[in-house]
Amino acid sequence: MASLTVRQLDEGLKKALRLRAARSGRSVEDEVRTILRAAVADGLGAASPTAAARVTVPVPTSRPDRVLLVIGGGIAAYKSLDLIRRLKERGLAVRCILTRAATHFVTPLSAGALVGERVFTDLFDPEHEFDVGHIRLARETDLVVVAPATADLLAKLAGGHADDLATAVLLATDAKILLAPAMNPRMWTHKATQRNLAQLLADGAALVGPNEGEMAETGERGVGRMAEPLEIADAVMRLLAERVAPVLANRRVLVTSGPTHEPIDPVRYIANRSSGKQGHAIAQAAARAGADVILVSGPVNLPDPPGVRTVHVETAQEMLRAVERALPVDVAIFAAAVADWRVENAGRQKMKKVPGLEAPTLALKENPDILATVARRTAQRPRLVIGFAAETENITANARAKLAQKGCDWIVANDVSPQTGVMGGDRNTISLVTADGVEAWPSQSKEEVAAKLIARIADSLATAA
Ligand code: CTP
Repeated sequence: MASLTVRQLDEGLKKALRLRAARSGRSVEDEVRTILRAAVADGLGAASPTAAARVTVPVPTSRPDRVLLVIGGGIAAYKSLDLIRRLKERGLAVRCILTRAATHFVTPLSAGALVGERVFTDLFDPEHEFDVGHIRLARETDLVVVAPATADLLAKLAGGHADDLATAVLLATDAKILLAPAMNPRMWTHKATQRNLAQLLADGAALVGPNEGEMAETGERGVGRMAEPLEIADAVMRLLAERVAPVLANRRVLVTSGPTHEPIDPVRYIANRSSGKQGHAIAQAAARAGADVILVSGPVNLPDPPGVRTVHVETAQEMLRAVERALPVDVAIFAAAVADWRVENAGRQKMKKVPGLEAPTLALKENPDILATVARRTAQRPRLVIGFAAETENITANARAKLAQKGCDWIVANDVSPQTGVMGGDRNTISLVTADGVEAWPSQSKEEVAAKLIARIADSLATAA
């Protein structure tokens, strides 16, 4: 029999493996594992330690972070070749998809040479579907970068299209998506593009660029140039460092945040100084930890946190209704500074100042206590109900009393005296009060408090499970 070349052997083995995989319905990789396991069980490993060493599949203990780069069809695609180099320099494992339009600007060969493996281009490539498949491409990554993100790709992504490999992978991935848009300045400022971008950011995508500068078209200048490869690589490293383990995956979390406004008449209202920063940071941290988050927010000057469903309300009564509609949830965190009272007979028309007449007296009525209402439910009570205690004196004693009065599981107590700068500020010093005792946390940013609280919640749910 004529001897086989290494290439023929390689191709023959691949073909045989693909056939086996197709028959068994498993992946090629799983087939390889099965064959190796069977070889070890057959005594290959037991008979000789050297043979065993040869057939042992090393299980990497720590692997490099994986980035999937989707190159869209724009003149900026040439910069994405340099981006591949920058990402690899940072020790990242890079895979690459070229959209059909991208192949007019860069070739799969040049991108593949830089990546060090074949790049993926077509959804209906049977070889690739056997080999890796679009679902594995979507799953086996820690971050997806779309560079250049063209106006068309942004529109498809915002609309949930999946008619080619790039869009199918973008729709199937759970990984964070970083968009590096590049387009003509008029396309960038077009309402449709801005609408799509706002939707994508609300869905949790991150953005780098675009920058201002000369366009490919002579004489054109403006915002629309793709961010430079080094900027994109920095954004990639930042996002990878921010990654949080999905400790709240498959959990539903409800957060209330901000003040409520209680109308006196159509133009005046009673309010408080809450900024909503702490509640919004908690909602965001829960979403980062993989939870399905509903944020019921009073009027605040903050953007809706990405990846969170935000319901906007104004009054305490509206907040209660929105909270009850959000149930059932696993965890409810009541960070809102709900007004304790509302004006009993709020005027339907603007109250007029009549010269010579005395100032009006406002009759106040108690608002429903949203936290106590939810904590005392018998049906659909969340497993963990967490209240806040905004105090100006006797912080822990008052917080302990609130824990009992309201029937909640934990209280996050904070000193909101004006000198602390907590109300409206960026830092918070809290004590966590539970049935087990009081834990004083050091002064931290509201984001750090949020991340720590989410980690505690995840621990508590895992222990109770
Ligand atoms: N809370 C609520 N509904 C209300 C009042 C408060 O859900 N009508 C919640 C807050 O979101 C917070 C907790 O109850 O989680 C405590 O709020 P706080 O303002 O500190 O206490 P109050 O109950 O309003 O009591 P007091 O103002 O007397 O301290």
